[in-house]
Amino acid sequence: MATLIKGGSVVSATGRHPADVLIDGERIVALFAPGTGPQDVEIIDATGKYVIPGGVDAHTHMELPFGGTHASDTFDTGTRAAAFGGTTTIVDFAVQRTGEVVQDGLAAWHAKADGEAHVDYAFHMILGGVDDDALKAMDVLVADEGITSFKLFMAYPGVFYSDDGQILRAMQKARDNGAMIMMHAENGPAIDVLVQQAIARGETAPYYHGVTRPEALEAEATHRAIQLASVAADCPLYIVHLSASKALEAVAEARDAGRNVFAETCPQYLYLSLEDQLGAPGFEGAKWVCSTPLRSKHENHHRDLWKGLRSNDLAVVSTDHCPFCMKDQKELGVGDFSKIPNGIGGVEHRVDLLYQGVVDGKLSLERWVETIATTPARMFGLYPRKGVIAPGSDADIVLYDPAGRTRISAETHHMNMDHSAWEGWEIAGKVDTVISRGTVLVRDGEYHGRKGHGRYVKRGLSTYLH
Ligand code: URP
Ligand code: ZN
Ligand code: ZN
Repeated sequence: MATLIKGGSVVSATGRHPADVLIDGERIVALFAPGTGPQDVEIIDATGKYVIPGGVDAHTHMELPFGGTHASDTFDTGTRAAAFGGTTTIVDFAVQRTGEVVQDGLAAWHAKADGEAHVDYAFHMILGGVDDDALKAMDVLVADEGITSFKLFMAYPGVFYSDDGQILRAMQKARDNGAMIMMHAENGPAIDVLVQQAIARGETAPYYHGVTRPEALEAEATHRAIQLASVAADCPLYIVHLSASKALEAVAEARDAGRNVFAETCPQYLYLSLEDQLGAPGFEGAKWVCSTPLRSKHENHHRDLWKGLRSNDLAVVSTDHCPFCMKDQKELGVGDFSKIPNGIGGVEHRVDLLYQGVVDGKLSLERWVETIATTPARMFGLYPRKGVIAPGSDADIVLYDPAGRTRISAETHHMNMDHSAWEGWEIAGKVDTVISRGTVLVRDGEYHGRKGHGRYVKRGLSTYLH
């Protein structure tokens, strides 16, 4: 039987209006003026709720191998947590390790996810070794595998790092086949020098993770990536997890010049800081060791990033969900911050945390929807199947309660983490009901979904470019 979501206010990237949404099977079939839809249907009452497209988190790392361990969420636990938080699609990063055949890395990622996911998922590909074979594989992935974006690292020498020549070659290939290059923009070789010097001085606490990854080395790498993309005939470039004002300035300058340069930030960079989190007493700060790092609250990064979100110099908010438990994982870096696995888990909280921007008057309701759902779908070739409430689109829908409240804690979250980066935060707004391809996954705080409901989605090219 068809279902009518009735009585809510439908919010899109371009406006809001009272409307009833009819779902049949896995798809949205029609929108009706309030009260004018069919009667002989199942009703979901959305009175007082915002009806928004399911969230699209374009940056997650389920089970990422890092620093001798693996990110602690599997596709099972991580996508279930995503569903609780109103995210109905993730784009995870499959990994080609240095020396590995790209297609083997991809096959390993499919094996991790197949039959395990609760929400739909797609993949980007991390290239850990750009060589002739990897360049050929890029064409195959774009043409046959629905993978149209490739992440390269200017950081982590000896692990994921690519030098400028490798980056340029991958960019030239992307320019030819229509793919997007995603860049981890930090100057890794320079950072490694600062890290060794800090450790030699006995500066081993988590705080020094931030100190040894200064803003200038994010800005320099961001600028260099933009220049390399320019040399590669304006290859489309997407800067991931941007955290610093001066990196944002480089992106804004390129965009003002009409370049195909895009960027995302993450909730941690909008709210948390070097001093308050990384600088927490003892080893506590390890919870917030991630790269790029949290920035100083004595500078204007938070203010500038919110402004960037409003001006579209920052187009997307992703989580960079890469959880590690304190026990046995973050603890690997006791006495040496450089051995702490890098990453913060947050796939469950992105929709709520960004809604605070609406509550605080920093984002419009429409811009909230745009940055958490519509733009990531368009940026990564999932639109209009995902990211919009429109006839023909997948019925991925969230009923959001602006009168509700959300309390975040490791005791109640669903991610496989023994702590929360947002412990004790109590925030306005609440995910009320979550629907994925017509199936109710979450309602009244209860879970009705199942492992295996989530399917792999082959992506097209970015709608911003083609
Ligand atoms: O600290 C982070 N960001 N960990 C995940 C890997 C990455 O660089 O995105
Ligand atoms: Zn990265
Ligand atoms: Zn990441």
